[in-house]
Amino acid sequence: QEVLRAGLAGLGTVGASVVRLIARHENDLAVRCGRPMRVAAVSARSRDKDRGIDISAMEWFDDPVALATSDGIDVFVELIGGDSGPAEDAVRAALKAGKHVVTANKALLAKHGVELARLAEENGASLNFEAAVAGGIPIVKVMRESLAGNAVNRVYGILNGTCNYILTQMEQEQRSFEECLAEAQRLGYAEADPTFDIEGNDTAHKLAILTSLAFGTEIDDASIYIEGISSITLADIEAADELGYRIKLLGVAQRTETGIEQRVHPTMVPKSSAIARIDGVLNAIAVDADFVGEIVLVGPGAGGEATASSVVGDMADLGRGLSVPVLGRPAGELEPYRRARMRLHEGGYYIRLE
Ligand code: NDP
Ligand code: HSE
Repeated sequence: QEVLRAGLAGLGTVGASVVRLIARHENDLAVRCGRPMRVAAVSARSRDKDRGIDISAMEWFDDPVALATSDGIDVFVELIGGDSGPAEDAVRAALKAGKHVVTANKALLAKHGVELARLAEENGASLNFEAAVAGGIPIVKVMRESLAGNAVNRVYGILNGTCNYILTQMEQEQRSFEECLAEAQRLGYAEADPTFDIEGNDTAHKLAILTSLAFGTEIDDASIYIEGISSITLADIEAADELGYRIKLLGVAQRTETGIEQRVHPTMVPKSSAIARIDGVLNAIAVDADFVGEIVLVGPGAGGEATASSVVGDMADLGRGLSVPVLGRPAGELEPYRRARMRLHEGGYYIRLE
């Protein structure tokens, strides 16, 4: 059988785990995809860094754009990060060259997702991004494929593993915010710039993507009301506890009479609710849709191994020849995003959890 040759740009937390996963499950993957999968070429900043993986049989590229357009690969896997610079240049170059792309880069998709979807369509390429939303949870597949027969009313949840880890550790171990953030960084959960996590931007990027998949609208992350967790103190957590609540950073998108509401903010959730019991690096996403009702997916939202699981799942789909419109429908069929009228009030928003 013809080998699926992947070119991997980025060998950090996620990239190195992808190499490890493919090496460990090579045989099963070949059976499940109907063809072998191989990392044929790689790129990172430093060639000599010890990453605990064997890349000696892989072709090395200093330039991710050269890798993305190389004749030696069928799929370009972007695991560099950032909404511009080498990640953007390489993804655009790959799609223009008609190469399929897999990415975990939510910042890039939140900013350029619709344009990249168009580029993919024009060049007969696929663009898969399961890992970009909630790490190891297969929510993109659920939204894009499994729920195709539903009209979604609301999608909300815990979308950032770093923040949930920090809030859980502060509450359960009485550790300081700074200490918990440093630990999340050490564990490979945080973004290269962790302010994206703690100020809510990373959650907003993921929410913007989910909103498009849920409501068939263009991606509009600029319309999101964003408030992060950097000002949450142990005293806030204790006060919420006394009142019967836990504090969670939620992303919420819902259809209203005036348009679509998108918001990210720390939220007091009743201790009795399912979402209050999501601890540590876990994420949870609830989707409320007309025919299926409410479904909730829970799982690790960050970390190399969990994220690699989603990346390789996307690669396996490409190996099988499965092709799905990037945002669930052709880019030209996306509706313009219409922002709901939202009334801000001191203390942020609440969410009704029946
Ligand atoms: P890391 O910072 O650990 O790794 C980034 C990698 O990109 C490094 O290997 C780095 O090289 C490489 N790189 C940086 N600049 C260049 C360049 N100009 N050319 C080639 N390679 C370059 O990031 P993560 O693995 O954590 O994240 C990667 C992506 O996955 C990001 O988009 C992130 O948002 C996303 N993601 C991360 C998750 C996580 O839990 N960590 C979960 C879900 C998504 P070098 O090693 O030599 O410095
Ligand atoms: N920094 C992100 C998080 C990685 O903590 O959730 C997963 O997208």
